[in-house]
Amino acid sequence: MKLPQHGANPDYVYKAMAIKQPEDLLDFSMNVNPAGPPASILECWTDWLPAVNDYPDPEGRELIEDISLQEGLSTSQIMLGNGAAELIQLLASSLQGKRVLLIQPTFSEYERMCRAFDCEITHFVLEGVNEWQLELSDLEPLLATHDAIFFCHPNNPTGVISSEQSLVALLSACSQHNCLLIVDEAFYDFMDRPFTMASQLPGQDHLVVLRSLTKMYAIAGLRLGYLLASPRMIQHLKKRQSHWSVNAIALLSGLQCLRATDFAAQTRMECTIERNRMLEKLTSYGYRISKSHVNYYLLQDTQLDDQYPLYVHLLKQGIVPRHTYNYKGLAGRWLRFAIRDTADNDVLLEALQRWKQEN
Ligand SMILES: Cc1ncc(COP(=O)(O)O)c(C=O)c1O
Repeated sequence: MKLPQHGANPDYVYKAMAIKQPEDLLDFSMNVNPAGPPASILECWTDWLPAVNDYPDPEGRELIEDISLQEGLSTSQIMLGNGAAELIQLLASSLQGKRVLLIQPTFSEYERMCRAFDCEITHFVLEGVNEWQLELSDLEPLLATHDAIFFCHPNNPTGVISSEQSLVALLSACSQHNCLLIVDEAFYDFMDRPFTMASQLPGQDHLVVLRSLTKMYAIAGLRLGYLLASPRMIQHLKKRQSHWSVNAIALLSGLQCLRATDFAAQTRMECTIERNRMLEKLTSYGYRISKSHVNYYLLQDTQLDDQYPLYVHLLKQGIVPRHTYNYKGLAGRWLRFAIRDTADNDVLLEALQRWKQEN
């Protein structure tokens, strides 16, 4: 059985598991905004179609200008990507053969891409018993012997965050040891009180911040992300990127996303209400839940070591969790669920309550 390495595209899961796919599915394996894209994008969709006749702006200048204003950074510190996934690939290619530290359990593309570019990988595995909290004192001895560290914040799949103070301390230690700190903030805008490492960038050569627009703005199929770093790092990475990497509709959508100012705040508010509701109910049913601050969480039926029976049970009902077999340190002992809208979350609550009553 070869399960997919990511959430979304549930038909691959059903095929791998040899389970008949129900007609109606609720996909909790994909962490995108359940509200869908901002209305301002949906209204423009058809008007934008003629833009595909021409090549897109290879520099994405208008979008970069907007990001520059939003982040208070120079345009020379920003580059766009065909999703944050492309930017991870470019970073890995720039680290070819180097020593890379991965804080696990985390997004599997860091390892996959670093392996593709023959990096020497060290896994630093955080434990669920410690709520997956990173202690700088434990990590510091490794910084001197590594060229770069990928740190997903908020972390995928746990949803756990660190304090701003501890991230700044980590950056300071990385600078001292000449280790590049790559902070993946793909989900930072789902935090109830978002904070970013981008404010540390001016004058800082040892920091890269990654962002994705595909999750908050529900444009995963369009592919759009950006990277913030020193001008030197941006130039270095751009040399490796293919021309016209970001398509014309993604560029136009990106502008609308950043201009939809209330959209993210509204999503955050709804997400926080739903997350608190889910965590409270699921805990009361007897499940263990990760201390998530974003739009997904890990869940464990403590009666089971491997969550496989629960996974199969939910899949058969058309409820699709994200398995955790390919996350170091989780190995199937947890399932990940996205926060969807109230009605969908209620379906999940009912199924999980019934499972506990019957098992
Ligand atoms: C932590 C993290 N970073 C980056 C990505 C890639 O995002 P994008 O859709 O922008 O390529 C994902 C996708 O799931 C992710 O979970």
